[in-house]
Amino acid sequence: MLINNAAISSTGIKPGMSVEEYAQQTRPSNVSFDEMRAVWETNVFGALAVYQAMLPLLRAAPAARIVNVSSGAGSLTRNSDPTNPHRAIFGPVYPASKTALNALTLAMAIELEPEGIKVNAVSPSFTKTNLNNYAGTETVEEGAREAVRVALLGPDGPTGTFTHATMGVIPW
Ligand SMILES: NC(=O)c1ccc[n+]([C@@H]2O[C@H](COP(=O)([O-])OP(=O)(O)OC[C@H]3O[C@@H](n4cnc5c(N)ncnc54)[C@H](OP(=O)(O)O)[C@@H]3O)[C@@H](O)[C@H]2O)c1
Repeated sequence: MLINNAAISSTGIKPGMSVEEYAQQTRPSNVSFDEMRAVWETNVFGALAVYQAMLPLLRAAPAARIVNVSSGAGSLTRNSDPTNPHRAIFGPVYPASKTALNALTLAMAIELEPEGIKVNAVSPSFTKTNLNNYAGTETVEEGAREAVRVALLGPDGPTGTFTHATMGVIPW
C-alpha cells in the first residue's frame, strides 16, 4: 500500500498573511516561479518519484493499492463554476499542484489497471493541521477516513476515482 500524503501549501506564508492575500500574490500574472516549482516539487514530482520507487514492491504484493491525497481545491470543474465562493483562491501553486496530482492519478490508474493495482485520489476536506495553521474545521480522523476506505478496497472496487468521505465523487 502506498499513500502519497506528503504535501506543502507554500514555502512559507508570512506571519499574519491570510490565504486570500497569499492567493493575490500568487496569481498567474505575478507568481514566483521558485514558489511554484518548490510546491510542485513535493506535491507533484514527489508523488511521482515515490510511485516509481515503490512500484517494484507494489507489483510484488498480492493486492496493492495506491492512494494519492489530493484536494477539492484542485477540481477544475468546481473552479470553473462562477458561483463557487472559493474559486478566488484557485491559482498556480497549491491548487494547480493538486490538479496535476489528479492527472497523475488517472495516468497511474490507467497504467496499472491491467495489473489489478487500484490508484485513487481522495480529498480530506478542510482539516485542522499544520498545512493551514490549524484553521481547518475537520479532525485528522475525519480527514483520514476516505484515504483509509479506498486503501482497503477489495478486488471489485473502482480505480481512477476522486472522492470524499461524505460528499462522494468529486468532479475532476
Ligand atoms: N489540511 C487540509 O485542510 C487539507 C485539505 C485538502 C487536502 N489536504 C492534503 O492532505 C495531505 C496531508 O496534509 P496535512 O493537512 O496533514 O498537512 P501537514 O500537517 O502539513 O502534513 C504534511 C506532511 O507532509 C510531509 N512533507 C511535506 N513535504 C515533504 C517532503 N518534501 N518530503 C517528505 N515529506 C514531506 C510533512 O513532513 P514534515 O512534518 O516532516 O515536514 C508532513 O508530515 C496533503 O496532501 C494535503 O495537500 C489537506
